[in-house]
Amino acid sequence: MLKDATTGYGLLTILLHWVSALLIFFLFGLGIYMTGLDYYSEWYHKGPALHVSLGLILLLLMVVRIVWRLVNKKPAALPNHSRTTLFLATLVKYLLYGLILIVIASGYLITTAEGKPASLFDIIHFPVITQLDTTNVDRAGLVHELLAWAIVIVAALHALAALVHHFVIRDQTLVRMLKPIKKMPPADEQSSPGNSR
Ligand code: HEM
Repeated sequence: MLKDATTGYGLLTILLHWVSALLIFFLFGLGIYMTGLDYYSEWYHKGPALHVSLGLILLLLMVVRIVWRLVNKKPAALPNHSRTTLFLATLVKYLLYGLILIVIASGYLITTAEGKPASLFDIIHFPVITQLDTTNVDRAGLVHELLAWAIVIVAALHALAALVHHFVIRDQTLVRMLKPIKKMPPADEQSSPGNSR
């Protein structure tokens, strides 16, 4: 099933989660690689163009993801999850969303600093909202780099927690982000109190 329900995640949420995760790790690797290239490398221009295009795709996926989250039912907490577990999981989730949005925004500001739109494979051009001077481009570059590292570290902890749930605690936390629910539960179950996080 495409939509989420109180019983678990639907196919679209699962796809958005894993595609975004892959994109983020690829963008991080590409970012580190391309900033180390010399002018004569074939990838000196291609690398940043690919990085910006994929970063803009991530931006579009984030918008779809946030809207999809808002219009869908939230899967209920698993019965074995304590209040502390739920609190930490929610904190990490919001931290990741915040970091990703700031890294995208700073990347966009660096790209458009010279007054040229940010291009998604030359298909969509994201207009220049504001132009930064050299000092602020450097600041945006530093924010972009440091928070990209923060994303990778927080995402690694988030992945480690999912693996502990799967292999040590042996609950459904990871499985339900891999297997979409099959069908909608009856309407009364969907809206029963205490079913949402
Ligand atoms: C979560 C998504 C992203 C991640 C993880 C990421 C990661 C990185 C990393 C690690 C670097 C290298 C930083 C350095 O060592 O100086 C970098 C550079 C860069 N990124 Fe991103 N990036 C993301 C999204 C974006 C987006 C959406 C854009 C543009 C719309 C963008 C534009 C740039 C540019 C222009 C540079 C080169 C900066 C420079 O030359 O100093 N990035 N990115």
